Amino acid sequence: MTTAPIRTTPAKGAVGTAHTRVEGRDKVTGAARYAGEIPFADLAHGWLVLSTVARGRVSSVETAPVLAMPGVLAVLHHGNAPRVETDYIGILGKPDPTAALFQHDRVPHVGWPVAMVVAETSEQAREAAEALVVRYEEEPHDVAFSGDHPGAYTLDGVMPAVTEKGDLEPALAASAVVVDEEYTTPEEHHAMMEPHAATARWDGGRLDVVDSNQGTGWVAFELAKMFSLDPASVRVRSEHIGGGFGSKGLRAHQVAAVMGTTLLQRPVRVVLSRRQMFSLTGYRSPTAQRVRLGADADGRLLALEHRALSLTSTVHEFVEPSAGVARVMYDADAHRTANEVVRLDVPTPTFMRGPGEAPGSFALEAALDELAEKSGIDPIELRVRNEPDRGPVSGLPFSSRRLLACFREGAERFGWADRDPRPGLRREGRWLLGTGTAAASFGAGAGPSTAAVTAEPDGSFTVRIAAADIGTGARTALTLVAADALEVTPDRVRVRIGDSDFGPAMIAGGSMGTRSWAWAVSAAARELRERLAPGADVPPEGITVRSDTSEAVGALAKKERHSFGAQFAEVAVDTGTGEVRVRRMLGIFAAGRIVNPLTARNQLVGGMAWGISMALHEEAVRDRATGGHYGADLAGYHVATHADVPRVEADWIDDPDPEDPVGIKGIGEIGIVGAAAAVANAVWHATGVRHRSLPIRPDRVL
Ligand code: MOS
Repeated sequence: MTTAPIRTTPAKGAVGTAHTRVEGRDKVTGAARYAGEIPFADLAHGWLVLSTVARGRVSSVETAPVLAMPGVLAVLHHGNAPRVETDYIGILGKPDPTAALFQHDRVPHVGWPVAMVVAETSEQAREAAEALVVRYEEEPHDVAFSGDHPGAYTLDGVMPAVTEKGDLEPALAASAVVVDEEYTTPEEHHAMMEPHAATARWDGGRLDVVDSNQGTGWVAFELAKMFSLDPASVRVRSEHIGGGFGSKGLRAHQVAAVMGTTLLQRPVRVVLSRRQMFSLTGYRSPTAQRVRLGADADGRLLALEHRALSLTSTVHEFVEPSAGVARVMYDADAHRTANEVVRLDVPTPTFMRGPGEAPGSFALEAALDELAEKSGIDPIELRVRNEPDRGPVSGLPFSSRRLLACFREGAERFGWADRDPRPGLRREGRWLLGTGTAAASFGAGAGPSTAAVTAEPDGSFTVRIAAADIGTGARTALTLVAADALEVTPDRVRVRIGDSDFGPAMIAGGSMGTRSWAWAVSAAARELRERLAPGADVPPEGITVRSDTSEAVGALAKKERHSFGAQFAEVAVDTGTGEVRVRRMLGIFAAGRIVNPLTARNQLVGGMAWGISMALHEEAVRDRATGGHYGADLAGYHVATHADVPRVEADWIDDPDPEDPVGIKGIGEIGIVGAAAAVANAVWHATGVRHRSLPIRPDRVL
């Protein structure tokens, strides 16, 4: 027995003070290993073979020549792969059959996995995979997305497809000012730095998977279902993650690795190439959105309609719920929103940072700017006049809504008061200058989680929770939260995450990760502190307290719970080349208590930089003839780089959530929301021309 030096007086609060990442040194020195780098003895490597046709059937897989190639151990395909279960409800609903590899001979899109070669080395597997001859019976395909595609239908996703109140047509007819426009956004990809990678092995009767994902419990649960295993016999670990953005759930690579290790009875690793990721790991659907706004002469909305079309695949339904943002932001007596999809011969899209809100806010906030222009009302004043006092569709009160306070603070710091609203007037050599603004919002929810906090005999504390740090700084945030709840300094707390054996926990998704985990961690830590009397004896195995927030989270009253923000952008448009340069951006957010100002600012600035990227660069283009992408790599798919991202400032106003034990709301996704609209509105202010299709490429500007 040793005596734990438990503090009796509270340490200065760690939450709210800037801390560098607790694993930062490991990351910059290379000591932190990512899923594709962790060594295993006797490791074999799988390489997926993807279809080259957009629709049809696999008629033959010529395995014999490839099996004779150096190092090749096996070729898996629909003719010999184990059967898996897909009839279950997973964490996000029914599983996308894209992950259920090699279960039939049908090909629903270019890039569909048709085989996997397993070999001694990754190079041997790749060479053999590229040599593998697969023959197809081709069928005609349709990959052409457009706003008037005849196959459109409404689809509920995470929210009802349609909301409707009042009569739109008479309200529009009675309006003094009407905006009726279509806005489009292209197919966009997560493009996180670290590709998907998994290593699977059987370890004493347990399936052990080392992976890069946004929820180890999520992937473990789905693998258990798919392979009909007892969930307790599946362990998934994911310690460091080089970005997720919605794309890192159950995907083909984990299933491929499990099939490989089951067949060969040795560890099998499957890493996806950047090119493979373009068809295997989800993406944001293109959207075509029609927004109709009708207002009285004072700019008060009488009618609002937001219809959003996105695409889904022929094998799975996913809807990008872009019209949902209008249900939160603005009210009108006549109010209609609808999310629709069309099925095409393409891979299934998925959640991508700010799903719905990112493209939806581009259309809605650009339309508001057009209404401001037509009404002769300042864009911020227009929003002041249309600030609802409760959820426009739900009728529920807001937990807090400090949107206008964000606009006030942002306007002052950005210098909005001096702005001449007339477009196309400011010149600087060949550049036209303009400024724009837009509102932002994102849901602020929480999910149930479990955590364990242990007082160690040496006076330190260990937190265990199946959280995922996808680059957000979650591990560091939880260290600060635990330190405050334990009333010790953060250096006495070690946080272990990324292991499904730590018990059920919220995924890193929906901007709910840190809040949900902090709830569980602070609950266990507080109880532990209460249990440890000063000078108490701590046995060698430590003293552990566990928490489960299911009940507390479930008891949250029904309210409109969101973070809010105001985005500001200044752009310069080159009249000779059509190039748009963002000169500065400012985002002010009301997003709950900020746990770590350093990583929170990184997170918000990163979202805003992604908004610049969305406004000006990102666009995945499909070839109608082949059904595949042009340039499915980071040379063909442009993301904003340092030279594209100038002075971007993010800050926040006080907005602690009174119903959250730490006061957190969540900041994961709101940074991108409204950012593209602010840039597009600034381009209009610079040039006098509205750009309603993203990205605002030079050829569109000229
Ligand atoms: Mo996010 S798109 O919920 O990872």
